[in-house]
Amino acid sequence: MPGDPVLSVQGLSVQFRIGGAWRAATRGIDFDLAPNETLALVGESGCGKSITCASILGLLGGEGARVEGSIRYRGREIVGMPESELEKIRGKEIAMIFQEPMTALNPVMPVGEQIAEAISVHLGCSRAEAKTRALGFMERVRIPAAPERYRDYPHQFSGGMRQRIVIAMAMACQPRILLADEPTTALDVTIQAQILAELRDLCANLEMSMVFITHSLGVVAAIADRVAVMYAGEIVEIAPVAELFAAPRHPYTQALLQAIPRVDRETVTLRAIPGQVPAIAEFGSGCRFAPRCPRASEACQAVPPELAARGGPEGHRVACLAPAPVRERAS
Ligand SMILES: Nc1ncnc2c1ncn2[C@@H]1O[C@H](COP(=O)(O)OP(=O)(O)O)[C@@H](O)[C@H]1O
Ligand SMILES: [Mg+2]
Repeated sequence: MPGDPVLSVQGLSVQFRIGGAWRAATRGIDFDLAPNETLALVGESGCGKSITCASILGLLGGEGARVEGSIRYRGREIVGMPESELEKIRGKEIAMIFQEPMTALNPVMPVGEQIAEAISVHLGCSRAEAKTRALGFMERVRIPAAPERYRDYPHQFSGGMRQRIVIAMAMACQPRILLADEPTTALDVTIQAQILAELRDLCANLEMSMVFITHSLGVVAAIADRVAVMYAGEIVEIAPVAELFAAPRHPYTQALLQAIPRVDRETVTLRAIPGQVPAIAEFGSGCRFAPRCPRASEACQAVPPELAARGGPEGHRVACLAPAPVRERAS
């Protein structure tokens, strides 16, 4: 990976107190994020994508939640960092676009002013300059007639428009790392494609890195350099995007890729994966996918398989005792 990682997550586990006992919602999450890189986190709902990002922002330290392991931002440990230090990093250095846009918007403040305020707080520029920049970002996320809409309130926009404003606000702060939690899911496909292109552009031009959460493999293909596939609180496979699509090795990744509807065939098929993601309290000690896995053996039920190269290239790791064989590469 070129350069030192901007973010290094090791052995991350988020635990919640449920019914009097601590339960690990995620365990052993390991990944690095390089400068300018976009890592996609994919997986079914409930697999721990959002809480992984929330812990990177230091948002999960309260009652009933506990974070173990290490999250280093440019060498500085985030886990256990005092709130006063975290506040200096949040927004300016690491920003997040939340799944639900209204949580990030102030309902009683015009949207343009909210973006401008974020800009002046983070970049320390004048009001006039902040306004000019805010309008620029509203245009970048394709808000029509941005100057006229600068003084409109969040409720005057549709859900998709509000999401674009939140994206503009996050972009405007020019963070080093943007954690984007399903930011384009609510948008129609043409706008989604334009916004993904803008985000890619920002990564390239502003030295920004992204952790991009999505359940859409189409979005992954459009935005990511690398992909981490999560299942029931663990990363089961991580690889460069082209490699993951061409040669998935984990049975869950393979099933996810097969579940994409194929419109280029005569009939649209969607092969659903039988069974469902277990609840946190039902996690077994071995591989969590084993109960749904066509290749599972007794050994899989006993021990959690480590994320490792398993005969493949070092950058492509899989947590499976019986991964698909490594494909022959054209030399
Ligand atoms: N505050 C909480 N208390 C207890 N369980 C939680 C809490 N927040 C999230 N969870 C559980 O943690 C798991 C992972 O949640 P989340 O990260 O939101 O999933 P995803 O974003 O992948 O859909 C889910 O089972 C969810 O119900
Ligand atoms: Mg989520």
